[in-house]
Amino acid sequence: MRDFEGRIALVTGSATGLGRSMAVKLAERGATVIVNYSRSKSDAEETATEIGAAGAQSVVVKADVSSPEGCAALRDAATAFGRLDILINNAGITRHARDHGDLDALSKNDFMDLYAVNVVGPYLAMQALKPLLQKAHEASGRASAVLNTSSIAGTTGIGSSVAYAASKGALNTMTLSLARGLAPAIRVNSVCPGFIGTRWFKNAMDEEAFAKTVKSVEATTPLNVASGPDDIADSALFLVSDAARHVTGELLHVDAGLHLGFSPLAAR
Ligand code: NAI
Repeated sequence: MRDFEGRIALVTGSATGLGRSMAVKLAERGATVIVNYSRSKSDAEETATEIGAAGAQSVVVKADVSSPEGCAALRDAATAFGRLDILINNAGITRHARDHGDLDALSKNDFMDLYAVNVVGPYLAMQALKPLLQKAHEASGRASAVLNTSSIAGTTGIGSSVAYAASKGALNTMTLSLARGLAPAIRVNSVCPGFIGTRWFKNAMDEEAFAKTVKSVEATTPLNVASGPDDIADSALFLVSDAARHVTGELLHVDAGLHLGFSPLAAR
């Protein structure tokens, strides 16, 4: 399926994990992709290589999404194409502080750092790229698509830390505000993953602890699976495709049912 042929897409934080998977899947469906990284050039180049293998074009841009200068660099890259059809605000960070009752576990700076990337970053990116998203709309006649990578943390409060959950909750309400504010030229949606087996967890724990986490996710999700990046990307790209042309302001859980929890009364 080459349904993104001729479209220009930008995925922030696409050197690794979910961002890379979405970038490559967009390319497999024909999009030209602007790959963004903040630190690891070699990882970003690996994403670009995979995009090339899928028969699509890419450019790689180093930019910190939490700064206006970084978002200006993203805008400059998209300006070279004269339009932007798809913007995926995927870059995100966390601090692992899993005991949510321990209020000494997080500092003011932790909150500020997480908000800068997870909340302010997507806003600055949309601010910088709105004119190019509008241009794509004028040229194509269809609403351009913004997708924010949020989290189940932003709808349930569970997750790696209170600051992380609060930041993703803020991203979700920003999705609602901007879906209303940027219509009809631009659709804005969020995807809310549960667990994704990426370096996010792998860097935070040793191999044994990671394997235990996967087992416990498999045991506690209603669908009895632990998601990888491709499982999330397949659903997420629905929201930027024409199949979702009448969808805006939606927060889509892609979490194998984790947000449902288990009913103690349910027969298993
Ligand atoms: P990841 O760590 O591989 O991806 C995050 C990417 O964002 C990295 O490439 C990182 O370099 C980039 N990034 C961080 N700060 C940046 C900045 N200031 N400017 C530009 N890029 C920056 O981890 P993963 O799992 O692929 O995370 C992707 C998104 O998925 C994040 O927004 C995360 O909050 C979200 N998510 C992850 C879950 C998980 O279980 N791994 C669950 C739910 C949501």
